[in-house]
Amino acid sequence: MFAVVKEKLHARAKAFAAGGIMDLYEAIDSRRSIRKYTEEEVSDRDVRICLKSAMEAPSARNEQPWQFLLLRDAAQREMASKASPYTGMAKKAPLVIIVCGDLRLETAPGFWPQDCAAATQNLLLAARGLNLGAVWCGIHPVQEREEYLQKAFALPKEVIPFALVCMGHTTEKFHSQDRFRPDRIHEGIWQENPHL
Ligand SMILES: Cc1cc2nc3c(=O)[nH]c(=O)nc-3n(C[C@H](O)[C@H](O)[C@H](O)COP(=O)(O)O)c2cc1C
Repeated sequence: MFAVVKEKLHARAKAFAAGGIMDLYEAIDSRRSIRKYTEEEVSDRDVRICLKSAMEAPSARNEQPWQFLLLRDAAQREMASKASPYTGMAKKAPLVIIVCGDLRLETAPGFWPQDCAAATQNLLLAARGLNLGAVWCGIHPVQEREEYLQKAFALPKEVIPFALVCMGHTTEKFHSQDRFRPDRIHEGIWQENPHL
């Protein structure tokens, strides 16, 4: 059965390469963190599609507590690259998007990180669908990183940087990676896995 699924996916990937529209599952399956980009700008159309997709995410009580800070300017991206030891690629990414949670917009207290995570994942999948490379860099809950970005970009104190997404065109290969783990699936009354 898995062979059939794989064959179907391969056919879809070929259709996409020929100019068709990427299937959702294909995008999920082949999304990878991409950290190297060409210098080509990300078009306004593509940025809009990514942001619209992010904003279509589910959120607690539909509170949509997100804000998105776009950085294209080289000096600003360099500043953003210093947010953590793992955000160096921001310097060379044509576009950096900082996904923030705005506590002033919360109506379901405490759920904003989950809302922002859903938005960030939608953003990454939309980027994949557009054949753009992207990587999610963690900011929240590391207070030091949050405070650095708040200060660097004069964010209001209620606007908490959640993730830093670097994005751009890429020559890197997108590949699928099988992470399916039947031993992580449980049903009914919990039974500890004897192999753990
Ligand atoms: C919450 C979170 C924080 C992450 N932070 C970073 C980061 O700071 N720098 C980085 O290069 N990758 C970061 N990543 C990307 C992960 O390293 C990556 O998703 C993981 O290795 C799996 O690889 P894949 O995305 O290609 O499937 C982060 C991912 C998540 C979800």
